[in-house]
Amino acid sequence: MLTSSTTFLFSQNEKNLGSYKKHNFNNGTLTIQTDQAFVSVEIINESCVHYRITETAPTADFSYSVLPYNSNKNIQWEADKSSLKASTSEIDIRISKMPLHLSIRDKKGKIIFENDSTFTTTWSGPEITTYNRLFPDERFIGLGEKTGGLDRRGNGYTNWNTDAFGYTPDTDPLYVSIPFYIGLHDSLCYGVYLDNTSKSHFNFGASNTRFSSFSVESGEMDYYIFSGKNVASIIEQYTALTGRTPMPAQWSLGFQQCRWSYYPDTEVLQIAETFRQKQIPLDVLYLDIHYMDAYKVFTWDKNKFPNPKATVGALKDMGVRTTLIIDPGIKVEKGYKAFEEGLSKNHFLKYPDGTWYEGSVWPGLCHFPDFTSPKAREWWGQSFQGYVNDGVMGFWNDMNEPATWGQRFPSNVEFNYDGHPTTTIQSRNIFGMQMARATYEGTKKLMNKRPLVLTRAGFSGIQRYSAVWTGDNTANEDHMLLGVRLLNSLGLSGVANCGVDVGGFNGDASASLYTRWMTIGAFSPFYRAHKMINMKESEPWSYGEESEAIVKYYIQLRYKMMPYLYSTFYEATKTGMPVNRSLAIEHSYDWRTYSGAYQNQYYFGEAFLIAPVASTQNATKVFLPAGEWYDFHNDVKHKGDQVEMVESPLYRLPIFVKAGSIVPMQRVVQSFDESAGDTLFIHIYKGDVVNSFVYFEDDGESYAFEKGEYFQQEIIYDGKKNEISFGKSSGSRPSKFKVKTIVLHGFEKDNLPKVDGNILTFNPTMDTMLFPAALYSNELYYAPKEEVRVFKN
Ligand code: GLC
Repeated sequence: MLTSSTTFLFSQNEKNLGSYKKHNFNNGTLTIQTDQAFVSVEIINESCVHYRITETAPTADFSYSVLPYNSNKNIQWEADKSSLKASTSEIDIRISKMPLHLSIRDKKGKIIFENDSTFTTTWSGPEITTYNRLFPDERFIGLGEKTGGLDRRGNGYTNWNTDAFGYTPDTDPLYVSIPFYIGLHDSLCYGVYLDNTSKSHFNFGASNTRFSSFSVESGEMDYYIFSGKNVASIIEQYTALTGRTPMPAQWSLGFQQCRWSYYPDTEVLQIAETFRQKQIPLDVLYLDIHYMDAYKVFTWDKNKFPNPKATVGALKDMGVRTTLIIDPGIKVEKGYKAFEEGLSKNHFLKYPDGTWYEGSVWPGLCHFPDFTSPKAREWWGQSFQGYVNDGVMGFWNDMNEPATWGQRFPSNVEFNYDGHPTTTIQSRNIFGMQMARATYEGTKKLMNKRPLVLTRAGFSGIQRYSAVWTGDNTANEDHMLLGVRLLNSLGLSGVANCGVDVGGFNGDASASLYTRWMTIGAFSPFYRAHKMINMKESEPWSYGEESEAIVKYYIQLRYKMMPYLYSTFYEATKTGMPVNRSLAIEHSYDWRTYSGAYQNQYYFGEAFLIAPVASTQNATKVFLPAGEWYDFHNDVKHKGDQVEMVESPLYRLPIFVKAGSIVPMQRVVQSFDESAGDTLFIHIYKGDVVNSFVYFEDDGESYAFEKGEYFQQEIIYDGKKNEISFGKSSGSRPSKFKVKTIVLHGFEKDNLPKVDGNILTFNPTMDTMLFPAALYSNELYYAPKEEVRVFKN
């Protein structure tokens, strides 16, 4: 191995960072000049380092993803002959001088992350690659919307937002780019966020045994390294840096039905009416491209929807919100308002010679707004006024990779990039996120309520503006299970609010596939069924009576879980902890987490363990992690730290509840607009741990909660003391539930818990027992072993 202290010249076109020449420390930033480049290092906090390499002296950093932060300005750097060193309470940072490379150790001296000591960071032509030591047991998780297995070791990936219609379980890249991953080795973990929007590549020991690496095809090598005690803390730090999912409108967590396309208005109303007749809950109906006049965004097809306001209003009267598809391409057509305005105000993308870029998509030839221009974003946001006046509350941003027929968006189109002019090369990956941002900021202002924004393309930080769906999947078993992994991976990568086209977009599903998919979908953050044009009907009643009954049961379950789900989203807004939680978050170093048989398993919030399984399987092996587990369907208790064979006919998705869990539920409603009555059902699953749950409630759709209008209360279950208690509530809003009913699971009738200090007794003649009435008007319900929830055909 070469140990040269000078620049490592691989060939004429290749060089590494070279060695240290000099450094200075100014206002929190250490700047080092090497033979070849400049390295700027900031220590952001006790466990995060920002490392930036520029070929020329660094200028102000600009990022669409990273929120403003204050780095630690008081850090002391020590320099000796061979290195520069600094320490925080969590990590020791060492930058070796010859050749310049970084290593980060924990306080016990164990290396967490280290650049390859020879390759360091290398330029190969314009491509810059940072090579890192690959540890023998190292695993890699995250990287957002990426196909493949949970553990990405041995694979390479590219980030380049792509219209990936018909993708397979190993197509790469897809629609969204999130250059953030988490490395796990030697019971240590770290995260890397590569802050560069150009095409990037990640290699996790693919075709080599020496290194993991990340590279960018253009721009700077600019990355953040997070260390932490566990995966949750890495996610928390990454989302502190790039932002968190805002509190979604509660109705957007209900069931959503979509199809390319429901029209005319009479069909749309009929679909909604059928849901109501059949008492299958529904909150959102989607209108796909046919609602527009010749696919022109911000218009209505007046033949298909002669009175859109009345139609949207009639849906709303049924408790159904309307969401419209919004595509970025603006039809080139004289007299069309959006076209004329965009042209006259100079909002469209151009070539370097000043001529308009034109590409074909649904409407034919189109111009495209430059969403990286603040002015164009502002204009776009205001353009929703008409739809908002019509009562539309959801905006589904599609085709924003951007997709154009031919799939070759020219490289030389110019973008404003918020005052840092550049081309497609730097801007493609950020286009979708900036479109979603413009849509979110605009509609939020116009509605003064929480809009539903859904996007296909995105980049790190997209979670601040929009939910993400995983594009045009296919109706087959592999895709159903791949979808679960995609959502789990998005969750690891900061995107708490995400979903797939439940039932499969492309192709017809069998009744069993559709049914199983709908049961899994009930346990995903964003629950929307969608189907491609020319495919057979795909509503909950389209696959026969048995399917309908099962699907209805699970949609109802989704609505019962709403208090739990909404509170779980609240947690995501505070800590970045996702809703779909890969087992890799909690069981990061257990090989079973990554085994092909169990890698799709996840926690849905804190309490539920979901084991998704193909619809063809009537039984499956489930990995039950350490602890104790209740089979959700019959309350039968299972030991953890083992694998169990579990029955999984279509009506019985394998769902387990962690012993000690606290799950607030409500009565079934048909939509958000219907009252769930006055009772909150607090399910407690007996365990011997101390657990708590932060229950959160507000009006579900406005921003009043930001001014304190919410109800929040901690529910504590101490399994050791056999006590349930309620913390002091906060917020200025009273709970909409006047009665708390505690539903006990796994308790013996002669060992009932105390509730806020009161001893409960079991009355065998009644299912229901009352709290001491003078103290609470609350009830206690003792759930017998054979719970009513077992699905009956
Ligand atoms: C794209 C979208 C899909 C939509 C279709 C028509 O393929 O991904 O969801 O239905 O366009 O708008």
